Amino acid sequence: MRTLKVALLGCGVVGTEVARIMTTHAADLAARIGAPVELAGVAVRRANRPRPGIPDELVTTDAAELVKRDDIDVVIEVIGGIEPARSLILTAFEQGASVVSANKALLAADGSALHAAAAAAGADLYYEAAVAGAIPLIRPLRESLAGDKVNRVLGIVNGTTNFILDKMDSTGAGYSEALEEATALGYAEADPTADVEGFDAAAKAAILAGIAFHTRVTAADVFREGLTEVTAADIASAKAMNSVVKLLAICERSADGSRVTARVHPAMIPRTHPLANVRGAYNAVFVESEAAGQLMFYGPGAGGAPTASAVLGDLVAVCRNKLAGSTGPGESAYAQLTVSPMDGV
Ligand code: HSE
Repeated sequence: MRTLKVALLGCGVVGTEVARIMTTHAADLAARIGAPVELAGVAVRRANRPRPGIPDELVTTDAAELVKRDDIDVVIEVIGGIEPARSLILTAFEQGASVVSANKALLAADGSALHAAAAAAGADLYYEAAVAGAIPLIRPLRESLAGDKVNRVLGIVNGTTNFILDKMDSTGAGYSEALEEATALGYAEADPTADVEGFDAAAKAAILAGIAFHTRVTAADVFREGLTEVTAADIASAKAMNSVVKLLAICERSADGSRVTARVHPAMIPRTHPLANVRGAYNAVFVESEAAGQLMFYGPGAGGAPTASAVLGDLVAVCRNKLAGSTGPGESAYAQLTVSPMDGV
């Protein structure tokens, strides 16, 4: 039985967990896949850091060389950002490798081109970890609901901002104080712009809208307003109306089915709505479809281990496909719908 070889690009919080689970759960993964799976190389930015559990000889600072190797079956990309991630993924496809990525910014900007490259190579592109961390969402939308018609997706898809708004709601804290606590607890980055200005949620909204409505949506199509202007007084007003403020990603299909809108902004929702009870840094996505009705997906949307869980689920899937000589679902963007940020629905 041949061993499937994996190249890991990025060894930060998520990559470290991916490597750890691949090592400690090697026997289980082999049983589930039907063949052993082995870490064949780990590309890092700085080589001289302790990386417990990862043999030194696997570590390289030359990601471009690693993805050119013709013995690599799967590339896991957890470095984030547009470049060099995009070029590395395209090279991986040229080599016939399948790709598992957690890169929401790249998929929201250039998902169609990446899907096309994967299809041309007869390879897989899976990215469950790109939206809402551990929560199974991409595969349910791409596969389980593929026979249904999704009309609306409402999501809390950014843990940092949900933590901030929840803190403001539960303690009466102002925005800056809540942000400070989010930073101290490690939820918000040193530069929290992508979270608090809604860029992170907009990228996730684009990915969700594209998959849910089988069309092409990029982050640039998404209306975006962050939460930096939300005050303690706004939260108190919402409270007086038995409501909460949440930063929502809202993706909708028009009633006649011809148009799609996607937007991210703070919204007031009644405390009785299931999304109102999503606390702390958790994420949740509420899906409304014609046949299934209302569905809610809920869980940890960030963090090393939860995100690694989604990455490893994808790894098992693409390895199974490789062994079967097949690929999973591709882009499925057959509908040429008009995409607009806000108006008209
Ligand atoms: N910064 C993101 C969040 C990480 O807070 O949800 C996960 O994408």
